Amino acid sequence: MDKILVEGGYPLTGEVSISGAKNAALPILAACLLTEGVSLIHNVPSLRDIDTIKRIMGLLGVEFQQQGSSLAVNTGNVQHHVAPYELVKTMRASILLLGPLVAKLGKARISLPGGCAIGARPINLHLKALASMGANMYLDKGYINAKARRLKGIEIFLDIPTVTGTENIMMAATLAEGTTVIKNAAKEPEVQDLAEFLRSMGATISGDGTDTIIIEGGKELRATEHRVIPDRIEAGTFLIGAAMCAGDVTIKNCRPEHLTAVIEKVESAGARIRVHQDHITVQGPERIESVDIKTMPYPGFPTDLQAQFMAFMSVADGWSMIRETIFENRFIHVSELRRLGAEIEINGAQALVRGQKQLLAAPVMATDLRASACLVLAGLVARGGLTEIHRIYHLDRGYESLEKKFQRLGARIWREKA
Ligand code: EPU
Repeated sequence: MDKILVEGGYPLTGEVSISGAKNAALPILAACLLTEGVSLIHNVPSLRDIDTIKRIMGLLGVEFQQQGSSLAVNTGNVQHHVAPYELVKTMRASILLLGPLVAKLGKARISLPGGCAIGARPINLHLKALASMGANMYLDKGYINAKARRLKGIEIFLDIPTVTGTENIMMAATLAEGTTVIKNAAKEPEVQDLAEFLRSMGATISGDGTDTIIIEGGKELRATEHRVIPDRIEAGTFLIGAAMCAGDVTIKNCRPEHLTAVIEKVESAGARIRVHQDHITVQGPERIESVDIKTMPYPGFPTDLQAQFMAFMSVADGWSMIRETIFENRFIHVSELRRLGAEIEINGAQALVRGQKQLLAAPVMATDLRASACLVLAGLVARGGLTEIHRIYHLDRGYESLEKKFQRLGARIWREKA
């Protein structure tokens, strides 16, 4: 297995360009199933999760042609409706195929995603919504089966503003008969990007970005062309990294308005940040102030940057309180950070971090995607040798060449192939 090696203690300077958003590209690729024809999707990041959805969609009959970061998606010959366990178990977002398949083909058989390192992550709200829309759902041999002649529009209140749940309902609703109203919908920029994509296919959707989304169903959709939004979590990871390493970095090709809560916190920690239309400049402070954060649905502080922010606070001056409200088990990176000398106490959903003068290099193990990024950031400031990060296949699921991008900023970081 590949590993990443980091020699910490070097400042970061220069420019980094942000790739397309994984969590926007995944539902957009799934939504291509709602039509027959060739859609052209630009700014698709090169990631293991994208390969996984392409492999599953390939089994359904979808053909792909890649040119750089543009992907032509041909859904003219979709004949199958099964997403197998072997692939779904490596990526929970495969559940995004459920809505489009049942709406377009009238049937779907998708392996139920299993456990996940960061929490139980049930999909009850996706299933409940599709059942209310008229799909006949049952579980057999670990697979969710859904069948429907024609889905019908519904008014639904989501107990939790689930991101992929909102996306699944939105996609299914575009082909359903009548109007669907999703209340307490997720407001994440990735949901808005999917709505934008569906509109360019001919769907009538309003309210995305607010907590009530209205979809007027029943229109025939056509293949289209779309550019995926920049990845706000990748941009946030560089923002935190630059602030941590006394950097002077320009983060290019990003959407600063998607990072308001994060920018505010990194500034409170002492960084000087300038926001422009599509780029951000960051100058890290000499002394990092401790700051408290609480993860919240968008526009709050994203759970997908909680681990990275904890690495940041591990070298701040003083105590900081980090509260995780989205996932019940998203502190698995704490024991690895402790191996680097971080002092963190966990009490339920709260972590109390006592900032250290410095972290100390050591071998550590990545446990999930964002935990891997947190360990890379910690490695960039750890002294006294090399930090070795193992199991970085997690990192490759969601970051495009993270170590190469940090290298170009002057970090001493490299990958060793197994
Ligand atoms: N939940 C339920 N029932 C459901 C659905 C969700 O109880 O039917 C709960 C979850 O267990 C969780 C909370 O609701 O406690 C929020 O989960 P949500 O459904 O919003 O998460 P998701 O859609 O599975 C997406 C991202 C995650 C990101 C979360 C929260 C994609 C493909 N994944 O997951 O991204 O953390 O929203 O913002 O969009 C990542 O990229 O590393 C990642 C984990």
